[in-house]
Amino acid sequence: MKDIMTAPFLGEMIELTSQMYRLGWDERNGGNISMMLDEAEVSEYLSLDRVLRNIPIGFSAPTLAGRYFLVTGTGKYFRNVRRDPETNLGLFRIASDCKTAELLWGYRDNGRFTSELPAHLMSHMARLTVDPENRIVMHCHPTHTLAMNYVHPLEERAFTHTLWEMSTECIVVFPEGVGVLPWMLCGTNRIGEATAEKMKEFRAVIWGMHGVYAAGKTPDEAFGLVETIEKAAEVFMLTAHLPRINTIRDRELQELAEAFGVAYRKDFLNL
Ligand code: 13P
Ligand code: ZN
Repeated sequence: MKDIMTAPFLGEMIELTSQMYRLGWDERNGGNISMMLDEAEVSEYLSLDRVLRNIPIGFSAPTLAGRYFLVTGTGKYFRNVRRDPETNLGLFRIASDCKTAELLWGYRDNGRFTSELPAHLMSHMARLTVDPENRIVMHCHPTHTLAMNYVHPLEERAFTHTLWEMSTECIVVFPEGVGVLPWMLCGTNRIGEATAEKMKEFRAVIWGMHGVYAAGKTPDEAFGLVETIEKAAEVFMLTAHLPRINTIRDRELQELAEAFGVAYRKDFLNL
């Protein structure tokens, strides 16, 4: 058995949490990440029949039975993951009852997975129905995206349109737009279900006055979505109070999307 500290998936999680912390997206215990792993890669590092603890997940995840996840712990700080991965992360399998996490490694201080597990696992289930290669769901509190929530209508079409206008690459990176949820109580099955519903249509979902969720096949895809949205929101916040004398016009956004061959939300443009 190889040492799990050398596992590429663990290295990837350490990089992600460290970089997100440094970017100011994850103050204190803010944010959480779940990474779906293949049984074959987990079995190189852990004995699959050595379950440390069974932890009820509080909902049913029917399509995830037997799937493996590496997930940040609740109350844990992203800044501490590098120093002590075994306390701040956990690796578990969803049991055949679909309602229990079988802990194989981590949460060493008797901790447990993020309070946002419903939004994570329900989003994985939703994304897998539209993209069988989806592996990552991440949540964070990027500063400018959050700031924009207070001064811009929390409406999908308008929010997406403004982001698209703020940087030429936006419509190419998230041509389907961004989903938007109103403020809701976090850490609940209800916000999990609402997020998953949006995830059938969007890889990025804004949680009103809270933060953002992003999904992807790879950490780069999910991270790239968040940083592109955050960059656009930053440009918006730097310019919102100034007279705008130039903008990218809708027909130019259309030209971009068509040149890059992306399936974009035509109904989000005024053509
Ligand atoms: P956890 O510490 O439970 O992951 O919660 C952090 C958070 O961002 C809640 O939305
Ligand atoms: Zn949060």
